[in-house]
Amino acid sequence: MKLIVTGAAGFIGSCFVRMMLSEGMAAKAVVVDSLTYAGNLENLTPVAGHPGFTFEHANICDEARMLALFEAERPDAVVHFAAESHVDRSIHSPAPVIQTNFVGTFSLLEAARRAGVPRFVHISTDEVYGSIPEPFDADENYPVRASSPYSASKAGSDLLALSYFTTYKMNVSVTRASNNYGPYQFPEKLIPLMISNALEDKPLPVYGDGRQVRDWLFVEDHCRAIYTVLQNGRPGEVYNIGGNCSLPNLDVIHRILKATGKPESLITWVQDRPGHDRRYALTNEKLSRETGWAPRMDFDYGLAMTVDWYKNNQGWVERVKSGEYHKFYDLNYANRAT
Ligand SMILES: NC(=O)c1ccc[n+]([C@@H]2O[C@H](COP(=O)([O-])OP(=O)(O)OC[C@H]3O[C@@H](n4cnc5c(N)ncnc54)[C@H](O)[C@@H]3O)[C@@H](O)[C@H]2O)c1
Repeated sequence: MKLIVTGAAGFIGSCFVRMMLSEGMAAKAVVVDSLTYAGNLENLTPVAGHPGFTFEHANICDEARMLALFEAERPDAVVHFAAESHVDRSIHSPAPVIQTNFVGTFSLLEAARRAGVPRFVHISTDEVYGSIPEPFDADENYPVRASSPYSASKAGSDLLALSYFTTYKMNVSVTRASNNYGPYQFPEKLIPLMISNALEDKPLPVYGDGRQVRDWLFVEDHCRAIYTVLQNGRPGEVYNIGGNCSLPNLDVIHRILKATGKPESLITWVQDRPGHDRRYALTNEKLSRETGWAPRMDFDYGLAMTVDWYKNNQGWVERVKSGEYHKFYDLNYANRAT
């Protein structure tokens, strides 16, 4: 199988490409990434020498370039991860978020339609459902009630992707996953930020009362679910992907302090994020019933592995924070980029 994978220099997409190539699930993966602050080719080092790996340094919003690429490569599928993925950044600076997440998805769908790409999987988030009151868990028919520019841009792109099934009969599926954690996550999201601050004895900033509830999904479980949807998901359908692990943020932070051996005095209370959703919760029942997929990772074990990874890769943390990876890009990948 030959895949075009957008945004795969980032956290989840890079895990997906490492898994696809190293486990032989795909013979070829063409990574399309514009290398924003969140994109880091070092994340793909483990497969950079694989004969099926190619990198295309490009912006997904460039529809003519995407069309030319799709026509030249003739992939079996496009798996679309590329996004501006951070809620706080979307609040401070919404324009690039709308541009990449909505307009960029439109550009890819158009290019895929015109090139006749046989399969398109759009990667989305449980945040499109907004805050979910106890005791409900969102299934795929739960109303979309996005709260932030980030979640609204993802909700809009989900609807656009589904419209390409309804209108053009394109073979599109949408996945909506809960909060991911694991190695190679940029240290701005909750778990890697708290781990890297704890390891450096810096304050751990906790929004509001810290009682916001999130479902936690190990990134490899997410990538296996995406592969399952790619192969067996029905066209025009949405699939929730959750980790069956609902926890308040403060509980996660206490576990990180325990795993890093750091004191609770590092916790610092900060003003809550505007429009902060109180609770995300979703059910996997549809994906499990249709495909047999289920999350495998135990949260405490996955968190301990993640803490170990950040401990052993502090150079990576320094490089992504300082933008050093661009030097890595110039040195190692310039001749691969077009
Ligand atoms: N991180 C999570 O917990 C989570 C949960 C559910 C869904 N998602 C979704 O999964 C996808 C991947 O998330 P992530 O956490 O890996 O994100 P990330 O921020 O780590 O990576 C995003 C990647 O997209 C690239 N990119 C951004 N704009 C681009 C553009 N215009 N053209 C080409 N490339 C561009 C970046 O360079 C980066 O490599 C996103 O669509 C996100 O909405 C993430």
